[in-house]
Amino acid sequence: MWDKLRAHHDAVNIRRFETLINDERAADFTATAGDMRLDYVKTNIDADGRALLIDLLDETGVGVKRDAMFNGETINETEGRAVLHTALRNLDGGPVMVDGADVMPEILATLDRMDDFSTAVRSGTFNGQGGKITDVVNIGIGGSDLGPAMGVLALAPYHDGPRCHFVSNVDPADISQVLRHCDPATTLVIVASKTFTTIETMTNARTAKAWMGEIVADPAAQFAALSTSEQGTADFGIAPERVFGFQDWVGGRYSMWGPIGLSMMIAIGPDAFRAFLRGAQDMDRHFQAADWVDNMPAMLALTGIWHNQICGYGTRAVLPYDNNLSRLPAYLQQLEMESNGKGVSMDGEDLSVNSGPVVWGEPGTNGQHAFYQLIHQGTRVVPCEFLVAARGHDDDLHHQHQLLVANCLAQSEALMKGRDLDEARSKVADKFDGAELERQAKHRVFTGNRPSITLAYPKLDPFTLGQIIALYEHRVFVEGVVLGLNSYDQWGVELGKELATALQPIVEGGDASDKDGSTAALVHFLRAHGV
Ligand code: F6P
Repeated sequence: MWDKLRAHHDAVNIRRFETLINDERAADFTATAGDMRLDYVKTNIDADGRALLIDLLDETGVGVKRDAMFNGETINETEGRAVLHTALRNLDGGPVMVDGADVMPEILATLDRMDDFSTAVRSGTFNGQGGKITDVVNIGIGGSDLGPAMGVLALAPYHDGPRCHFVSNVDPADISQVLRHCDPATTLVIVASKTFTTIETMTNARTAKAWMGEIVADPAAQFAALSTSEQGTADFGIAPERVFGFQDWVGGRYSMWGPIGLSMMIAIGPDAFRAFLRGAQDMDRHFQAADWVDNMPAMLALTGIWHNQICGYGTRAVLPYDNNLSRLPAYLQQLEMESNGKGVSMDGEDLSVNSGPVVWGEPGTNGQHAFYQLIHQGTRVVPCEFLVAARGHDDDLHHQHQLLVANCLAQSEALMKGRDLDEARSKVADKFDGAELERQAKHRVFTGNRPSITLAYPKLDPFTLGQIIALYEHRVFVEGVVLGLNSYDQWGVELGKELATALQPIVEGGDASDKDGSTAALVHFLRAHGV
């Protein structure tokens, strides 16, 4: 199946895809889900290529696997677990069975408890020892940080609760710079950790408890925990009424829909948080029901497969023209790279194609004044994924929003059209002539023919954010199934953790002689400078 796609690619590779575009393609090479529109018109995927890509979905059993995921089957085979983050937003979808038991009553009861607690914090029914909660500090890392941190920023216009801060790094600079701005007597600390063993999080949690204990009599009373570990949270001294649990079939990077989203719920309120869940549920339903060619997550995944595994473009730039999505690229880095950055297939064989791409990005227009130079004229092609809303949140500044939109559309147009030598020459013909004109013109050529896709939506509200994040989750799922790997484990993070644990006593003064020459020399250098 890959061979047919490669052969098709070889046959069409040199054409300029701009020549494919007409009104029919502009309508056909799009997918719609609710109010959102995914445009992949500006790619070199044509009808034959799309048909071959869709064959991949059927040949690799994406539909069967999708249904297995939603039905709670053990699709995370290396960890022997179901993959059921979708159940966290299954607000009115009926039972979801895992090992013969419906998991929905417990999920909905926990959501109700989160509602109650958030309302109490926001209203002042739950107080700190110095009065109403003014600041919430979420301590977590990876999936226990990136989701709510991205979400709180994305929904800043809806933020009407206490200030929210996110501490993730074990670098003491992170926590000290956050706590410096908080009053221990009016701060709620949320320890977010699926396992409640992650060394960075537990170290920061102890630091926060000591900081609070210097001022308030009962610091643990101003702590809440989000975790699958009842024992761990109890050992830390957090009372069960402020522990919000979930199950191991919610992967860390897929967990912002449940208790890990508590800081977000406190920030925007339970109703807005439920709207966020409803947006995701809407995308789930679309993913389950739409034909492949109309299926937004499937088509987003196939453009990714085309660009990465077929065209060989190893990176993917995510470029939101929506400043409140400035943490989306970081969030997607974990979602996509921890999920599909694997070299071994589900059955233990080496992967025969490239694993998932390097994901990176920054909001436009800032990126335009930083790295877009390479995107337009560098020697490597970087497929770009633009996100843009029709409207911002400041109606009185709508003309400024229109300028933002114009910039977004201009970039995909520029990437596609480029600028040839004749046009470049005409741009500078009044300044230079002869050999100097040729030289100067060459620097102003844009090859063009560079692919991009655009996700457009009316406005970044809670519902839309839910749609967007669920869209990317399902894209990762589809790409993972097509590549034949397990998107839901993360063994690649283990080795570094083990070595860090072994290195800590050496950094603190222990014997480094067993270490390789480079590591030992670095330890000695850092010791000489006071580590
Ligand atoms: O080390 C990677 C990882 O396990 C991520 O998958 C996870 O999101 C993160 O660490 C944090 O884990 P926890 O929520 O258990 O603290």
